[in-house]
Amino acid sequence: MTADTIADPRSPLAPRRKGINLEKWGWAYMRASGVVLVVLIFGHLFVNLVLGDGVKQIDFAFVVGKYASPFWQWWDGAMLWLALIHGANGMRTIVNDYVTHTTVRRVLIWLIWIVAAFLILLGTLVVTTFDPCLGVTPDSSLWGMCQG
Ligand code: HEM
Repeated sequence: MTADTIADPRSPLAPRRKGINLEKWGWAYMRASGVVLVVLIFGHLFVNLVLGDGVKQIDFAFVVGKYASPFWQWWDGAMLWLALIHGANGMRTIVNDYVTHTTVRRVLIWLIWIVAAFLILLGTLVVTTFDPCLGVTPDSSLWGMCQG
């Protein structure tokens, strides 16, 4: 088999390194996270865009209301982690498929995971530490609520 030929799917496994087969778990993760993401993403779209006043209801107060509830913090946190890891792992697959230069491929895959980790960190901080009263001054409409 040359480098540009895909192995017959039913051919015996080539001798592999011992230990965890990360490629196999990555494959399983894409399917498992996909199933959970369908529920999380469509639930998110339904609650935000269909229920209540629909898209017109989305403003700062709407976000304040949602993040006052641990339920939505967990929902959005799970969606953030699952989708970013899913998206990054999917991009890794695409890079592995198309980028033939070893160094360029390694650099791109490192970049994908660094960007994903950074976005997960930022998003998790937002979801868990969101405070609508931070920096609120007396001329803000939130002043009354934030005094209580
Ligand atoms: C709605 C829920 C979703 C489901 C059911 C789903 C399902 C899947 C599955 C089963 C794969 C593997 C395909 C394969 O190995 O041939 C995949 C690949 C991928 N997914 Fe998702 N996904 C969802 C949401 C997302 C989201 C939100 C993102 C972006 C953040 C994303 C980005 C990707 C990428 C980049 C790939 C790689 C595509 C490829 O290998 O050609 N997916 N998805």
